[in-house]
Amino acid sequence: MLAVYILLAILGLVIISQVISRVMVKYFRYAPPVPSFTAPIMDSNVRRIVQPPRTIIERSGIAPGMKVLDLGSGSGAFTIDVARAVGGQGRVYALDIQPAMIRQLAEKLARPENRDIGNVELIEGDAHKLPFGVASLDLVYMVSILQEIPRRPEALAEIKRVLRPGGILAVSETLMDIDYFLKSTVIKMAQQAGFTMDGADGNLWSYTVRFTRP
Ligand SMILES: C[S@@+](CC[C@H](N)C(=O)[O-])C[C@H]1O[C@@H](n2cnc3c(N)ncnc32)[C@H](O)[C@@H]1O
Repeated sequence: MLAVYILLAILGLVIISQVISRVMVKYFRYAPPVPSFTAPIMDSNVRRIVQPPRTIIERSGIAPGMKVLDLGSGSGAFTIDVARAVGGQGRVYALDIQPAMIRQLAEKLARPENRDIGNVELIEGDAHKLPFGVASLDLVYMVSILQEIPRRPEALAEIKRVLRPGGILAVSETLMDIDYFLKSTVIKMAQQAGFTMDGADGNLWSYTVRFTRP
């Protein structure tokens, strides 16, 4: 019985936060970057159950040797796993607009268990103006960030610019995030930006959708 109450409480919280977030975005055009003090929640074991990094990485099409941009990396809930997935021949650029997030990721990378990782570059930057050359990346990995970007068409055009032809844009969302976008919305936006839909995995609760850059 207790489990049912807990489930109902979680469901209620999800619904309330989704409604509040939608009202803020629709009527106040307000979806600020999630504050850095929430990093321990994003980086928690519960999150790893809801969005297991390995599953999201597999669904995204990340493979050894790739150059991957972890766009809106936050404190790096996925970055370490992405770094291990691309291996020594690959490279991960973890970019976030908030210096405090990048600092937390740097601290995480400095932990003894992560000292073997030497393929991550930390960048304080903005999705609207990516510090990469034309066609210089294999994959752009975005988890729970799209709605926080104010000018999404502009950012998607930037992502298209930095991806090589055939490169992948992988977008993952979970309903646990108040800035959740429906899969159909993401597909529409990416297609309008000139990406080709490649495939989707998961469900309403947690999904990943992949696009290729023509
Ligand atoms: C909800 S968090 C998700 C972090 C991480 N991807 C994860 O799933 O744990 C979204 C992140 O995107 C970052 N962000 C928001 N707008 C951004 C922008 N315009 N450019 C780069 N990063 C941005 C925020 O600072 C925040 O760290």
